[in-house]
Amino acid sequence: MKKRLTFYFLLPCFMFAGCHTRESEPLSAVIERGLQVATQQALSMAKELEHREGQFPKTISPDGTLETSYYDWWGSGFFPGTLWYLYEENPTPELKKYAELYTARVEPAKNLTNTHDLGFMLNCSFGNGYRITRNPQYKEVIITGAYSLATRYHPEVCAIRSWDFNREKWQFPVIIDNMMNLELLIRASEASGDTRFGDMANAHAKTTKENHFRPDYSSYHVVSYDTLTGSPHAKQTHQGFSDESAWARGQAWGLYGYTAMYRETGNAAYLELARQIGTFIMNHPDMPEDKIPYWDFNAPDMPAAKRDASAAAIMASAFVELSRLDHTPFGKECLVMAEQQVRSLSSPHYLAEAGSNHHFILKHSVGNLPGNSEIDVPLAYADYYYIEALLRLK
Ligand code: GLY
Repeated sequence: MKKRLTFYFLLPCFMFAGCHTRESEPLSAVIERGLQVATQQALSMAKELEHREGQFPKTISPDGTLETSYYDWWGSGFFPGTLWYLYEENPTPELKKYAELYTARVEPAKNLTNTHDLGFMLNCSFGNGYRITRNPQYKEVIITGAYSLATRYHPEVCAIRSWDFNREKWQFPVIIDNMMNLELLIRASEASGDTRFGDMANAHAKTTKENHFRPDYSSYHVVSYDTLTGSPHAKQTHQGFSDESAWARGQAWGLYGYTAMYRETGNAAYLELARQIGTFIMNHPDMPEDKIPYWDFNAPDMPAAKRDASAAAIMASAFVELSRLDHTPFGKECLVMAEQQVRSLSSPHYLAEAGSNHHFILKHSVGNLPGNSEIDVPLAYADYYYIEALLRLK
């Protein structure tokens, strides 16, 4: 009788997800909850901008309004990429219609030669679209974009030029973020049979491995090379706290970039570096308990410093991937770390309630704090990598 009473007393508890403390909520439920919010938010956003020709969601402006961008913004590919991921998981005609619509808006970027961000722009949009649909038109865009990106490769430096501004300061700047453009070159090699794209990606990854990392495996944001000798002449920051600090999103790009390069090439040196970057991140004494990093690991005003959800989302996605590729106990640690980050990002502090947050999915990211821009706001790329992390975990 006593057993029976206990059973009936507990039954309603099991019927309501709210009965779980956040920590005890099964991971599968966290993932489904995140995907549900993401789908609602992304569809509302897609409808809101449907008739605003050529626009993509970017962030929320200081005046509280939705800030949008056009195809030439470095993050134009993230919203279509988010829609492709959600469509892949839940193939409805509506998600496909919007994924195609916003992907088409990015297409003019394939001819840009004044930016290194073509991997972000084209691989997240057309790359995911091609992977899922095999639409031959998407393949053509990937190849054309790779030719445009290849114009920025310098054979003496053995790297792709990142930025064209600050020429008086930097001869040939390469930023750690540029590791994220290499997958486009690999996809283009496969799609076109032109192995030069893959060779450039490898050369860029090797040059960055040699020059961007400090003895503790944190990385500089910007390394500028002398184009005559091919050697670095400056190591600085642009979005971090100081030249010698570890800008959180930069560490995330490095982790993600070398994990992806190991997956694509099987080069053990890339796996080793990914492990070393991952160790720096996981063991950092100033990584908060919830594993959402401060915007810079050396931010001067911790614990008041702003957190960067975008860095956490990129790290989480990379850590899941690394755990899949690394069959040592370290791989298991990566998965634990990713799960902690995803759980934190899925808590009410970071995950928006459906219908709020101007239809962005996550809150509390930092774009460029020294530039006094995008501080403690939603960002389209935080959303993209959060969804990617959820799906990789799933
Ligand atoms: N690549 C731009 C950024 O991470 O802010």
